[in-house]
Amino acid sequence: MNARRRSRKTWHGDRSFQPRPPAGTCLYGIVIPPVGGDTLFANQHAALDAMPDRLRQRPEGRIALHSAKKAYAPDGLYGERDRQSRSMVIKPSKDAEAVQRHPLIRCHPETGREGLFGYIVGIDDAEALPLLFELYQWQSGPAFQYRHRGQAEMLVIWDNRPLLHAATGGYAGHHRLLHRTTIAAA
Ligand SMILES: [Fe+2]
Repeated sequence: MNARRRSRKTWHGDRSFQPRPPAGTCLYGIVIPPVGGDTLFANQHAALDAMPDRLRQRPEGRIALHSAKKAYAPDGLYGERDRQSRSMVIKPSKDAEAVQRHPLIRCHPETGREGLFGYIVGIDDAEALPLLFELYQWQSGPAFQYRHRGQAEMLVIWDNRPLLHAATGGYAGHHRLLHRTTIAAA
C-alpha cells in the first residue's frame, strides 16, 4: 500500500462515475482486524439541511462531474503502477476516463428528500475547486458522521444515494477480508 493511499480518507458514493450509480452496497465481514478498518458514513440529507445559507446557495442548480479517471484509469491511483501493492483485483481501463454529470443537489428517487450528491474527482477548473473543497469539508463534517466498526459474519447494507462513506484504514500488518457487492438502481 502506498503512502498516499494510507494517509488519506476518500469520501465517496460507490460508482458515482456511472450513469446510474448503484442504489445500495452490501459489505459482509469475514476477517476483521483487531485495530482499524472501520467505515465512516456521512449523511448528505443532514449535511444539506444544516448547510448555512451562504454555502447553500452556491451548489444550487450546479452539476458535478464524476469520473473514475484519477482512480481506475491505467495511469490512475489504482492503475498499472499500483498492481503489486493492492489486495483487491482491480482492472485499470481507459473506460474509466469517461465523465458522468449528476446534479450536486438532487432528490432521493424513493423518498423525494433533497441531499448532496457530489464528491470531488479531478475537476481542474480554478473557480470550481474552491467551492468543491468547501463543500467536501462541509459534507464530511463530524456532525453528519457515523462510524461503523465491522464484525465477522456481520452484513452491512446501506443506501448509496444519501450517504458518502470512507474507509479509515489503520490496520497495517493485520489481515482484513470482506465481501462486497452493489445493488443496481431500479
Ligand atoms: Fe466504497
